[in-house]
Amino acid sequence: MASANFKLVISSIYPLVAVLLLLLSGDPTTCAAQGSFRPHALVVPVTKDASTLQYVAKVNQRTPSVSLNVVLDLGGRFLWVDCDKDYVSSTYRPVRCRSAQCSLAGNNGCGNCTGAPKPGCNTDTCALFPENTITHTSTGGEVAQDALTLSSTDGSNSGPSATVPQFIFGCGPTFLLEGLASGTVGMAGLGRARIGLPSQLSAAFSFHKKFAICLSSSTRASGVAFFGDGPYNFLPNIEAAGFLRYTPLFINPVSTAGVSSQGEPSDEYFIGVKSIKVNDKTVPLNATLLTIDSRGNGGTKISTVNPYTVLETSIYKAVTEAFISEAAAGNISRVAGVAPFEVCFSSKNVFSTRLGPSVPQIDLVLQSQSVVWSITGSNSMVYVNDNVLCLGFVNGGVNPRTSIVIGGYQLEDLLLQFDLATSRLGFTFTLLGSRTTCANFNFTSTA
Ligand SMILES: *[C@@H]1O[C@H](CO)[C@@H](O)[C@H](O)[C@H]1NC(C)=O
Ligand SMILES: *[C@@H]1O[C@H](CO)[C@@H](O)[C@H](O)[C@H]1NC(C)=O
Ligand SMILES: *[C@@H]1O[C@H](CO)[C@@H](O)[C@H](O)[C@H]1NC(C)=O
Ligand SMILES: *[C@@H]1O[C@H](CO)[C@@H](O)[C@H](O)[C@H]1NC(C)=O
Repeated sequence: MASANFKLVISSIYPLVAVLLLLLSGDPTTCAAQGSFRPHALVVPVTKDASTLQYVAKVNQRTPSVSLNVVLDLGGRFLWVDCDKDYVSSTYRPVRCRSAQCSLAGNNGCGNCTGAPKPGCNTDTCALFPENTITHTSTGGEVAQDALTLSSTDGSNSGPSATVPQFIFGCGPTFLLEGLASGTVGMAGLGRARIGLPSQLSAAFSFHKKFAICLSSSTRASGVAFFGDGPYNFLPNIEAAGFLRYTPLFINPVSTAGVSSQGEPSDEYFIGVKSIKVNDKTVPLNATLLTIDSRGNGGTKISTVNPYTVLETSIYKAVTEAFISEAAAGNISRVAGVAPFEVCFSSKNVFSTRLGPSVPQIDLVLQSQSVVWSITGSNSMVYVNDNVLCLGFVNGGVNPRTSIVIGGYQLEDLLLQFDLATSRLGFTFTLLGSRTTCANFNFTSTA
């Protein structure tokens, strides 16, 4: 697999580990941004796609600049786009084999594309493996560089745009888009990899290796991703960074990607859930499942490609049983499940509150009893029709790779800040409690 065959398709069934030859390792260098304008932070609109429930980011790439919709993948390794269709740019450069950029991309081998030279098909280029993490499909592709342009921000509005002239990304074929939201042309990986968006953007502009996401629960109004430090202001003048509480981020020692080298850690973001409470009562769980073992199994990660939180079967059963019993105590009656949900209730006796439907609160207890990620009705309940609402958690079966995958619905309308330098996650209580939402960033430009 070292000389990557660009036609090779790998449907990744975990844990598929490709042993890849390491070539020359040069000094990792980063591409400085052009000009003297040094933004303090950057801002990207993120919209929820109504039919796939994927979160779609809007970025500008190429020369002349084209606006692209790409699916946001929190744990993804890098930006990859379809280079086969409509890729026109005067600044496209394939990354040469044995170059410093190839080393930064992980030295996954080199490839020669046999077709006529064009974006995604050149000779003696550095290879990598773009992955569609929705369908778990990976394929070999060329590493490339092109201009990436994003809006700067002062934390309150969009500001002048800032360009990274030689942003490193991966080229994928058109078929890799299958399963992604309509109108999208790739995926934006916000993972820990050295060519992930957070690392490249912070290196290009010398800002803190931090980023934040605030996903909107509305499919009509955009949420936001910030690269760099706060403030993160939402209308009407609510500074959400002030509400952050912190918990350590953990590195899973074993890669969770479709194709990876042996011994390579995961690029995804794991946190340490120690216990779970429903209405302040601890749910009995098998604690072994909550830690990451030496083979990389277990633990809790955060994912934007799972629409709902996925719990290993025994955790799912324990949490839903506790929830059903607490709901019954509040005279909320259970009704038949509505796929993909098994646990649904009549909306009779469920009241609307500022924090969503009045249902039992689920708390993820982190490093201590006082550091708790609270999930209120706004993030736990999904209305499937006017009379029925379901607990928005799904059963992950026995022996899943990761025991708890906190999915998109549970992330909406809270601010999450990932600090790669100090390896900690900042998270807020639902912003609904502070009378704002993730759709309230004022994208009006002051440029
Ligand atoms: C690609 O082609 C170049 C030039 O023909 C050759 O030197 C190189 O070994 C080839 N690389 C691979 C991986 O086949
Ligand atoms: C707890 O989970 C671990 C890991 O799956 C398993 O090996 C062990 O048997 C479980 N313990 C109990 C009491 O079910
Ligand atoms: C539930 O219903 C019973 C019988 O109607 C009533 O006595 C009780 O107060 C109700 N409990 C709650 C929490 O509403
Ligand atoms: C959004 O920002 C612009 C530019 O600062 C400002 O003029 C406008 O009033 C803001 N919108 C709201 C609703 O405050």
